Amino acid sequence: MRVIAYLLALLPILYYSIDTILPRFFIFDPVRLQQLSQASIEKFPDNATLLMEDLQASLLAEYGDKHINGLRKDAWFFNNAGGAMGSMIILHASVTEYLILFGTPLGTEGHSGVHLAHDYFTILHGEQSVFYPGDIEPTVYKPGSQNHLPKGRAVQYILNGWALELAQGWIPSMLPFGFLDTFTSTLDFHNLWNTVYWTARGIVGQLLVGKF
Ligand SMILES: *[C@@H]1O[C@H](CO)[C@@H](O)[C@H](O)[C@H]1NC(C)=O
Repeated sequence: MRVIAYLLALLPILYYSIDTILPRFFIFDPVRLQQLSQASIEKFPDNATLLMEDLQASLLAEYGDKHINGLRKDAWFFNNAGGAMGSMIILHASVTEYLILFGTPLGTEGHSGVHLAHDYFTILHGEQSVFYPGDIEPTVYKPGSQNHLPKGRAVQYILNGWALELAQGWIPSMLPFGFLDTFTSTLDFHNLWNTVYWTARGIVGQLLVGKF
């Protein structure tokens, strides 16, 4: 019994030590991603399709095809989570990071979720408004600006447009938030399959090239 108590007491320490070494595995830099986004926005401010194609090309040039996926139309899928709905494509997924294009041309609203990861949301087209409990006025993010949602925090948000989203932390812990609406709401199992397939393909593929 005593051994179990000791082990339980060690868990937070273990979690904390692993958590502090996670950043060693990060390859993306939110500041650089914002610069690349701003360059594509400047070239294609009025066309989200061309803007995202241009951004994917510069991400590919910056990080290589070992880490950045192509923009295939059939690799887009829906994400229903926290009451919001949009579509996304995975440019990169590994154990400690994901980089996606996310958004909706129609508009959506919901809860961000609470994650064991930092989230950097760079607006490409349209806008996002967020507020934290205690805020009375919304904070509005326009193309080129970056919204950092710290690990463990949550916001209500409205998004109308497209964003480049980087998450850095324990990516597998974020996945249930992205899946569970399938069982409680949408019953869109085809979409669940796409979500699992593209996520697993990303994470396993990155492990195979030595990216944790
Ligand atoms: C953006 O460009 C694509 C590809 O050239 C085109 O099909 C689309 O209609 C354009 N969208 C707008 C809003 O101009």
